[in-house]
Amino acid sequence: MLNSVIHNETIIFRPLLIEKQMKNIYLLFLISVLTSISCTPINKHIEDGKLVKTDPISDSHSYSNHSEIRTTHVHLDLDVNFEKNIIYGIARHKMSENNVSEAIFDIKGLKIKKITLGKDIEVETDFAIGEIDAIKGAPLKVNIKPGTEYINIYYQTSKDTEALDWLTPELTAGKQYPYLYTQGQAILTRSWIPIQDTPMNRITYSADVTVPSELIALMSANNPKEKNTEGHYHFEMKQAIPAYLIALVVGDMEYNALGESCGVYSEAELTEQCKYEFVDLQKMIKAAENIYGEYRWDQYDLVILPYSFPFGGMENPRLTFANPTLIAGDRSLISVIAHELAHSWSGNLVTNATWNDFWLNEGFTVYFENRIMEAMYGKEIADINAVIEYQDLLTSIQDIEQSDHPEDTQLKLQLENRNPDDGMTDIAYIKGAFLLRTLENLVGRVKFDGFLTNYFDSHAFETITTESFVQYLNKKLLIPNNIKFDTDEWIYRPGLPINCIKINSQRLLDMEAWADRVNSGEEVFTGEYKNIKRADRVTQEWQAFIRKLSPELSTEVLNEIDSNLMLSAEANPAIKSDWFILNINAGNKIIRPFMEAYLIKIGRRWYIESIYQALVDSGLKGDKEFALATFEKAKNGYHFVSKSTIEGVLN
Ligand code: BES
Ligand code: ZN
Repeated sequence: MLNSVIHNETIIFRPLLIEKQMKNIYLLFLISVLTSISCTPINKHIEDGKLVKTDPISDSHSYSNHSEIRTTHVHLDLDVNFEKNIIYGIARHKMSENNVSEAIFDIKGLKIKKITLGKDIEVETDFAIGEIDAIKGAPLKVNIKPGTEYINIYYQTSKDTEALDWLTPELTAGKQYPYLYTQGQAILTRSWIPIQDTPMNRITYSADVTVPSELIALMSANNPKEKNTEGHYHFEMKQAIPAYLIALVVGDMEYNALGESCGVYSEAELTEQCKYEFVDLQKMIKAAENIYGEYRWDQYDLVILPYSFPFGGMENPRLTFANPTLIAGDRSLISVIAHELAHSWSGNLVTNATWNDFWLNEGFTVYFENRIMEAMYGKEIADINAVIEYQDLLTSIQDIEQSDHPEDTQLKLQLENRNPDDGMTDIAYIKGAFLLRTLENLVGRVKFDGFLTNYFDSHAFETITTESFVQYLNKKLLIPNNIKFDTDEWIYRPGLPINCIKINSQRLLDMEAWADRVNSGEEVFTGEYKNIKRADRVTQEWQAFIRKLSPELSTEVLNEIDSNLMLSAEANPAIKSDWFILNINAGNKIIRPFMEAYLIKIGRRWYIESIYQALVDSGLKGDKEFALATFEKAKNGYHFVSKSTIEGVLN
């Protein structure tokens, strides 16, 4: 029997004493069973002197009992209220066949008003909310009868709803209307929808959303091309997806087609720039399909979010959420779109089963992103991208080795009791991609492409663990081709194996040689570089140049470079971040007003994090104070995920 409290309107966040005691007894029991079997983690143990890996029993980041009873479809009734910054919702869950008396959902910062069972006739039922965990939120335990088909959760979001970014009009391009977007990955969907928030479960969804009539609502589903006068929108997502891919955005936007099955939603102010920047979108979809087969989600659109969006892009199905910094004016950041499109296969079609397997989403995607770039712009450009990634990877490995979690350089992570966001490092992304590049190099591209195409086909609309992937790899690629390859070393051991493939780029070497000459005191703009302009080289070439410049250079030299190339005023955040970091380390304070403006305007986590980190690490007088003061001015414009990351850096 459930330790439930009868609820009417209000939520009771009351830790339940009996429940706690029961939990302790259960925990003691579990610990004794586990220690009697083995002292190693559940999904890795020694048998007959050999390392044996089994699939994890469950996703430690979800409270849900999805293996006993699971949502197969959820219908959302949502009323988006911009006066109160609250979503009033009903989540109508259709459940799988079951024989249990309790269904457990994940919630975080939500107010649960009432829960009913049934479709046409609804009957109120009891529920209880367990203890709140700072990372995972709380289990919502609903009393049901075995066989219950429909569970309807009436709720509203709160100030603490971490997924939602409510923007005032000033933070939009048009400055007239407010704006709202959600960010579900990794475990934030539970903060705006009560749901079994684990990638191990896939669901279809539909929604009826009401918004102010001046605004349009869009979801990771089939989308309207125009506003309607009532502000009512209906959505269907007919393919089964994990909960972290449910997404909503509301704002004053218009649609512009870029091809027969793709287009871009943006504020009207950005339309022309978007049309120029993303002109290749349809070609890109074709290029991706040529590599791994049909795009399975029909339409592929982009939506350009405001500057606070904490990522470069987010692969919400059918509707990639994109950062406005991608509109660099020279199509130089299109690889981010290639990346999000690639997730339509790696991640959205075949999904990591738990956040410990995150590299299966991101490593495959970075690999695929690079293949798309190669198909569209040639091998030289693809290699330039990969070399810069490799530099990033080496730096990250060093940083992680010195952190509290040196084991995080393994591809398979152990994030139990930690925030799954901790796994969003270059390890999953770049070490993961280099594993695949190394394998490709061993077997040859034709075989490797065949292998990956079959992998996507045979696991389509499924979730997969690292262990199952390794089994599949052995069976379908390594054994048939008689290849000896130490996958364990790549996946379960720290650092970068020495068999990692090396990629070179003459164009980047040239830029580095130029930087070396500058470091040794030669004039900067001389010889072949006499009249060089920013537009003469691509983003990654400038990054290679800046990264090689010495922090010992004088302020005069740095300022000369800046006034010739206008790097502080640069629109491209990748160049700009590297440039600011060099200047921080060189103690050049002239760039501070530019840096401050940048940190206030942009909320893209990776870029701003590296700047705040450099300010904290420089050890130079006043840098930390400048970082703290700038964060104070900027933080209200950041989404929760960036805000909490930067708080971590500053503390
Ligand atoms: N899915 C990620 C973003 C993400 C990861 C959000 C983990 C929350 C938790 C997205 O596809 C991504 O990787 N974005 C990158 C793009 C880059 C690698 C090209 C980004 O935002 O920088
Ligand atoms: Zn990604």
